[in-house]
Amino acid sequence: MSLSNSPDPALRAAVVRQDLGNVLHPIVQHKVLEAKQMVVAGGEGSTIVDADGTEYLDAMAGLWCVNIGYGRTELAEVAAAQMRQLSYFPHTAMNLPAAGLAEKINTLMGGGYHTYFVNSGSEANEAGFKIARQYMKQEHPGEYRFKTVSRYFSYHGTTLGTLDAGGMGERKAKFEPFSGDFVHVAPPYCYRCPFGLDYPSCGLACVKNLEHAILGEGPETIAEIIVEPIMSGVGVAVPPDEYLPEVESLCRKYGMLLHIDEVINGFGRTGRMFAHQHYGVSPDIVAVAKGISSAYLPIAATVVKNSVFASFYGDPAENRQVAQVNTYGGHPAAAAVALRNIEIIETERLAERAASMGAYLLEGLRGLLSHGTVGDIRGKGLLIGVELVKDRTTKEPVDAAQITQIVEFCREHGVIIGRAGGGRNYGNTIVLCPPLVITRAECDRIVDTLGRALKTLAFG
Ligand SMILES: Cc1ncc(COP(=O)(O)O)c(C=O)c1O
Repeated sequence: MSLSNSPDPALRAAVVRQDLGNVLHPIVQHKVLEAKQMVVAGGEGSTIVDADGTEYLDAMAGLWCVNIGYGRTELAEVAAAQMRQLSYFPHTAMNLPAAGLAEKINTLMGGGYHTYFVNSGSEANEAGFKIARQYMKQEHPGEYRFKTVSRYFSYHGTTLGTLDAGGMGERKAKFEPFSGDFVHVAPPYCYRCPFGLDYPSCGLACVKNLEHAILGEGPETIAEIIVEPIMSGVGVAVPPDEYLPEVESLCRKYGMLLHIDEVINGFGRTGRMFAHQHYGVSPDIVAVAKGISSAYLPIAATVVKNSVFASFYGDPAENRQVAQVNTYGGHPAAAAVALRNIEIIETERLAERAASMGAYLLEGLRGLLSHGTVGDIRGKGLLIGVELVKDRTTKEPVDAAQITQIVEFCREHGVIIGRAGGGRNYGNTIVLCPPLVITRAECDRIVDTLGRALKTLAFG
């Protein structure tokens, strides 16, 4: 569909009726949907269009995922051609697009990795937990290394395991109790340092806290630590440069695997192909999703270092193979689309573009510091947080209702922005994660609209 397609009110009304009468939507309250009745009909670049013809600049790239932007019809051609050739066969056999995609991922990671395909970021992390556990059982017979260490305020997915790994109490509350196999430590959230310290005089107290937790739990019970290099869910917490290397050192010291969550961070988002590459670490397990296909088709993966892969390699009688399967893993059409998507990211130099456009957007947003409610502006590449507070000295967060008002104001003025996922606790950050093809003029529009929202709603 092109943005110029003329709206069809009767069709739109039919969709609304069908939807409200039949669909159960995720995370949004149906009464809100009834009131807004947004029916997305098409998109191009960084813009989506409602079936009533209203256009929105999508500064969230959908759900942090449409890295190459909307409307790339060549990906439809790639999917169609692959479906004509081979629509599906289980990945217990080989197929051409999945093999090519795995090779591409291996190259992008610098070599030395094998890829296990799944369908979503949650599954990619969940498979990572299971691979870590199986690895430990095989490599340390007689030991019982099963725990995953994670950080408070992180988000790693929606399954029971990944939700347990995450550190957002409000998201977990309706599903408790959890297994207790996930141990939580303080995040490197410097604006609200859990220890009340300032960088660099803090001496990375969060890493010391991690080591205490490892020793307290007993390193012999821990399989891995999961880390999103730049924590998106808490409102884009960018750690000090030494943080991730120091976490890696603790992994090596205590025999834990380093599991990196690149579900949002990956595929150019932060200015490098993968965010962990900013920090020179060598992860054992990497979860990728979202930007791998820019959400043109669902596909995700758990990428493992060859030293981990080696543990799964042997004679059938040894029973070392990956002890899990999912129907759609390695789907040929999804893999072909992902491969073409990555080629677009490379040929259009979208990671470099994320770095330069992100710097431009950050610079523009810094002009908003003249508003008393803007407490902190931070980000890396095109992953940015604007934290809003009632008082800059006390850093008391603005109310959830105030953030909702800002998000609504921007939407009503044609710009879709996001908010941190912390809910009542630390949900006070506006988040921006636009397609990597966003233009300077579109960045200016985001800054201008957010500025008008802050001025018009004038909380302080
Ligand atoms: C950092 C992170 N990890 C994992 C996930 C889960 O991905 P999915 O929604 O594809 O299951 C998300 C989803 O937003 C995420 O932000």
